[in-house]
Amino acid sequence: GAPVEVDISNLEPGHIMTVEWRGKPVWILRRTPEELESIEALTEEDILRDPQSEVESQQPPFAENIYRSIKPELLVVIGICTHLGCSPSFRPEVAPEDLGPDWQGGFFCPCHGSRFDLSGRVYDGVPAPTNLEVPPYRFLAENRLRIG
Ligand code: FES
Repeated sequence: GAPVEVDISNLEPGHIMTVEWRGKPVWILRRTPEELESIEALTEEDILRDPQSEVESQQPPFAENIYRSIKPELLVVIGICTHLGCSPSFRPEVAPEDLGPDWQGGFFCPCHGSRFDLSGRVYDGVPAPTNLEVPPYRFLAENRLRIG
């Protein structure tokens, strides 16, 4: 499939956009400073399966970090659950009633309840085996991305 170029200049902190690449949805999320702090705090707790992004199949080497990205604020991730391929929902709110007090914002898969944080890192104790997949991408300019 061909690479896709994306203009992210209108993407506000806390917002997400979706583009299609190779027939798959790719989410681009500009995280807020508070969200980056929650990602850091979650890393210290023992509730994520692969907090440091060490499973090599799930991201290019540049994203083997807790933000799973090149620039900490910008997450680029394939929006397909790593369990059976459903489409998770973006749930940025902290501790909503239906997701419980440990929820710090992230992506929730309604099919079988898999939970991913705002870096796409999978929580322990859910069916999805791995973190969401980060596609290859690079910056062509500060607000211009090339995916693929
Ligand atoms: Fe997402 Fe099963 S497909 S939890």
